[in-house]
Amino acid sequence: MSKVLAGNDFEVFESAPTPLKTKAGLHDPFDWYKKMRSQSPIHYDSQREVYDVFGFQQVKNGLQDNALVRKSLADNSNRTSPFSYIDNAIVWMDGSQHKRSKGEFFKYFRPGEINEFENTIRELTTNQLDQAVANGTEFDFVSELAEPLPLRVIMSMVGVPDEDIDKVIEWLLTFREVTYSEFSDFDSKQPERLSSVVEYFSDLVEKRRAEPQDDLISKLIEDDELDDITIGSNAFNFILAGQGTLTSLLANSVYLLDKFDCYSSIDQSQIDVVLEEILRYRSPLQARARKTKQQTEIGGMTIRQDETVILWIGSANRDPDIFDNPDTFISERDPDHIAFGSGSHTCIGAPLARLEASIILKTLFDYFEDITVRDSYIPLAKPSDLGFEKLPVKTNSK
Ligand code: HEM
Repeated sequence: MSKVLAGNDFEVFESAPTPLKTKAGLHDPFDWYKKMRSQSPIHYDSQREVYDVFGFQQVKNGLQDNALVRKSLADNSNRTSPFSYIDNAIVWMDGSQHKRSKGEFFKYFRPGEINEFENTIRELTTNQLDQAVANGTEFDFVSELAEPLPLRVIMSMVGVPDEDIDKVIEWLLTFREVTYSEFSDFDSKQPERLSSVVEYFSDLVEKRRAEPQDDLISKLIEDDELDDITIGSNAFNFILAGQGTLTSLLANSVYLLDKFDCYSSIDQSQIDVVLEEILRYRSPLQARARKTKQQTEIGGMTIRQDETVILWIGSANRDPDIFDNPDTFISERDPDHIAFGSGSHTCIGAPLARLEASIILKTLFDYFEDITVRDSYIPLAKPSDLGFEKLPVKTNSK
C-alpha cells in the first residue's frame, strides 16, 4: 500500500465550529455537545450560517424529515462531469428513485446474505495481521490494520480486484479533496480529477457483463433491475462509504478497550453487545449535513427553505434524556443508538460493518494478549468523523 488515506499534516477545517478547531476538541467534542444540549439544543451559528441540532429526538426526527435533503454533488447542467455519474449513488438520491434502487441493493446487504463473507473477512484479517506484526510488536493500528482491512473486504465484495487497491486509495483521497468542504458549503470542485473513476467503473461493469464473477456487480447485472450507471456509481460509493467509517469503528474499539482497561477481561461471546456501546460512545459519523428543500420545523424552531442543518449524531448518542449516565462507558449496555442513522437513509452497510468488526476484534483477541495505545495518537481532523489518523499501539502476542 503506497499511501495512507489521511494526510500527514494536521489541518483543521476553517468552517468547523470553533470548539472543534483544536486537536483536543476534535478528539473529545463531548463537553461542547453537553453545553449545547443544555443551553441551545437547536442553535443557529451565524458565523458558519448553519443550524446545529444536538438532542437525540431532534436529530432522529431530522434524519427522518423528508423536508431535509442531500444536496446533489453534480451541477445538473453539466452531464459530462464525473460528478453526474457518481451522483447516481443512493447516498445522494432522495424520493422514489432512492427507495427503488436501495431495495435492489439491500437484497445483498442483509445479514443472511453477507454471512457468506465470514471466511473472506477472517482470511484477510489474518493476512493483514501477519503483515502488521512482521516488523515488530509496535505499529500504527490505523495504517497497518484499520484502514486497509475494511477496504480490502468491501473491494472483494463489490468485485474490484485487490491489485487495484492503490488506484482505489488515490480515488478516495481525491474524492475527499474535491468534494464539499466541511459543513459550511457544499461546493464540489475540479470534478475532472475523478474522470478515471468513471472510466474504471464503467469498464468494470462491462467486463462483468461479458464475464460474470462471484461478486456484487455481477449479481446486480444478472438481476437486470438497475442500469449500468447506477450499478457502477454505487459500486464506487459502497467502497467510499464503507471504508473510513469502519476504520474509525475499529480504531475507536481498540482505543476504548484500552482506555477502560477491558481488553483482556471482555467476554468474547459478548463482543457484539460491546460493539453497540462503542458505536454509541464514539460514533464514527458524528454529524450529517442536510439542506431544507422547504420550510420545516425542528424541535419547535421554524427553519426556512434552503438552509443548512447539521444533525449531530454523536451528541444525540450522549443525550441523558435517552441514555442513563451517557458519558459512562458501560460495555453491557446494549443501547438503541443512531450511529447508523435513521429513516430512509439508514446505513445499508450496518450488518456488514457489525459482522466485520465482530470478526476482526475476535481475531485480535485470539492474536494478542494485550494491546496498549500510545499517547502519541492523532485524531481525525474532520469534526464530522470521530476516529484516528494515527493510533500507535504496543502489542503482546499470545
Ligand atoms: C461502522 C461503520 C459504519 C457507520 C458508523 C456508518 C454510518 C452511516 C450513517 C450514519 C449513514 C446515514 C447517512 C445519512 O443519513 O446521511 C450511513 C449511510 C450509508 N452507509 Fe454506512 N456506515 C458504516 C459502514 C458502512 C459500510 C461497511 C457500508 C458498505 C456498503 C456503508 C454504506 C452506506 C451507504 C451506501 C449509505 C447510504 C444509504 C442511503 O443513503 O440510503 N456504510 N452510514
